Amino acid sequence: MKDRQSDKAHIQANLKAWEEVAPIHARHNQNELLKRVCQPGFSVLDETATAHLRRLGTKGKNVAQVCCNNGVELLSCKSLGAACCVGFDGAQGFVDQGTELANAAGTDVEFVCCEVHDIPSEYHSSFDIVLITIGVLSWMPDMGRFFSEIAKLLSKDGVIFVYEHHSILLMLEPGQADDPVNWELSYFRDEAYIDESGLDYYGGESYEATPNASFSHKLSDIVMGGINSHLTLDYFEELPQHISNAWWNVEHSGIGLPMSFVMVFQKN
Ligand SMILES: C[S@@+](CC[C@H](N)C(=O)[O-])C[C@H]1O[C@@H](n2cnc3c(N)ncnc32)[C@H](O)[C@@H]1O
Repeated sequence: MKDRQSDKAHIQANLKAWEEVAPIHARHNQNELLKRVCQPGFSVLDETATAHLRRLGTKGKNVAQVCCNNGVELLSCKSLGAACCVGFDGAQGFVDQGTELANAAGTDVEFVCCEVHDIPSEYHSSFDIVLITIGVLSWMPDMGRFFSEIAKLLSKDGVIFVYEHHSILLMLEPGQADDPVNWELSYFRDEAYIDESGLDYYGGESYEATPNASFSHKLSDIVMGGINSHLTLDYFEELPQHISNAWWNVEHSGIGLPMSFVMVFQKN
């Protein structure tokens, strides 16, 4: 049985760590994004995400994104014709960046600052599609608890679209292109991975960072997290493409490891 108190402490420390890095990310990319979001058809979604979101019928649908960061993926859903869009993130700094980008783009995307396990009930049963993309699951201590909270956001027949790093990558320290690929961490580990090097994965800037705690989840834990939350797994694919800012060594190794995956869960 996982210890809820330590989970809470890890989540609080992580949100503090994200809050600290928000102005640093903004320094790297906000001005450029303020220009880009104003362009017609703005999108940061890759071909995979775009094809799935089209297939799921994003046009005219209400879409939420949890742990949305600065909201650029959610703003991209607007370009696919999404109706009401709400992004949830636990760091006010990123919520403010998302709001600034939405205002610049002249689009009505709402951003809400809250911890993902405490999304206000007024948003429950409101969304046809909930997005979970690139670097969310590893901040969650427990897949069962996470999916049961997210499932509350879905309206009847709503779906959760997950596009994430492959779990096998969490057996490796993040590495640059020339680094050897070292299998160092157990796929089955339960304990949090504590990192003190900060979260500036854009500029690699050093700053005094609150240590963050991340978690490795087996693919089976992710699948069962959904199933135990009364969701049906509709689609699952492991993919070769690299979707993160880490593990460049794996991408260049030629080993052919899975780098990402898509899962789609439907509300029963
Ligand atoms: C790596 S970003 C992921 C998102 C997005 N796909 C992107 O590429 O920017 C992770 C985000 O999750 C948020 N986050 C982490 N833990 C959270 C929690 N427990 N509740 C709410 N937000 C959380 C952080 O503030 C951060 O903005």
